[in-house]
Amino acid sequence: MKNILVTGGLGFIGSNFVRLLLEEGEVAKVVNLDKVTYAGNPENLTDWEDDPRYLFVQGDIGDGDLTSSLLTTHEIEGVVNFAAESHVDRSIDSPEPFFQTNVVSTLRLLDAAHRFWAELPSAGRESFRFLHVSTDEVFGSLHSDDPAFRETSAYAPNSPYAASKASADHLVRAYHHTYGLPVVTTNCSNNYGPRQFPEKLIPLMILNALEGKSLPIYGDGGNVRDWLYVVDHCEAIWLSLTMGRPGETYCIGGDSERTNLEVVDSICSILDDLRPEGSPHDQLKAFVQDRPGHDWRYAIDSTKIRAELSWSPKHDFTQGLRTTVEWYLANLSWCEAIADGNYQRERLGLS
Ligand code: NAD
Ligand code: DAU
Repeated sequence: MKNILVTGGLGFIGSNFVRLLLEEGEVAKVVNLDKVTYAGNPENLTDWEDDPRYLFVQGDIGDGDLTSSLLTTHEIEGVVNFAAESHVDRSIDSPEPFFQTNVVSTLRLLDAAHRFWAELPSAGRESFRFLHVSTDEVFGSLHSDDPAFRETSAYAPNSPYAASKASADHLVRAYHHTYGLPVVTTNCSNNYGPRQFPEKLIPLMILNALEGKSLPIYGDGGNVRDWLYVVDHCEAIWLSLTMGRPGETYCIGGDSERTNLEVVDSICSILDDLRPEGSPHDQLKAFVQDRPGHDWRYAIDSTKIRAELSWSPKHDFTQGLRTTVEWYLANLSWCEAIADGNYQRERLGLS
């Protein structure tokens, strides 16, 4: 594939994916369509702004005229849809934006892709792909001894965020079944790594610990997540886009189940080592009121993508977490720009 449209490419995973494509020289052109919500950070890709293979466009995936024009003008062969409202706690406070972007705008993007695809010559229709990036949260919550989620697991979303992502997955499936649009959906577990917005567990804990602030652990900290280093996820998405079978879904996970308490303790001990002046950082742990409807456990069985696409994660959690902490320590100005709001000055016309 030469020309790719990435949506939500200023966010955490999207920006790591764009970087991977450009660094590996995988494509001729990457068009990044991003609305630049609070989670979209132009600084995530400033070092690639002058690369002739990269084009950033500010806009909404729900703007059908814009997406149709981008697909045609840039002769797009593959769409990778990262754009979403992604934070569970925000969806509990205010569900509606989640349904606007994750469902209504995703439907409009699918519709533009379908109309574009239907007009392509047959070879183009054959090779075109629409990859939808989804989550393991659509499957609901596991008990401690349940088998891990796999592609055949029933959908049982529990939060407004998960319900909106599940709705989007169903729409993507319907566009394949009804219209034949060549779609692939990936359902991934929790990602961590550089450039994750510090509302999510791992970056929040790193930055709070560095500032001597409390580390808020929901409930008793026993909830389990299956952690995957973001670059491993990006490689799985590229393989699914280029080699995945149309109409299929692929579950992607890190085989790294940890309780939240284990994750926070690991971050504290890495910081004790790298920033001994604040030690012991685990004295900052604070058990706070639980998240409403908090899913107990997520775990992914990645057998299908490992067997079909020869994917496997290259980073283990211990090393990946240390690399992540080191990235935040080396990029404190990125963190400070978020804390003082300066990361979006350009978007607001203030730079
Ligand atoms: P993020 O919140 O960091 O980034 C989302 C990006 O989408 C931002 O740049 C934002 O500006 C953009 N965006 C939001 N609404 C838009 C719209 N209407 N039009 C265009 N752009 C819009 O999210 P993330 O953590 O990078 O997640 C990316 C995708 O991966 C999401 O679909 C999420 O559901 C999925 N996912 C995330 C994880 C995870 O652990 N973070 C795991 C599995 C799946
Ligand atoms: O599983 C994939 C999902 O992982 C993605 O679809 C979501 O976009 C992504 O946000 C993430 O969802 P989680 O809710 O699992 O991630 P979060 O970082 O918000 O929380 C991870 C765990 O840590 C969860 O059990 C809640 C807990 N937590 C979170 C925060 C922010 C705390 O204990 N304290 C906190 O302050």
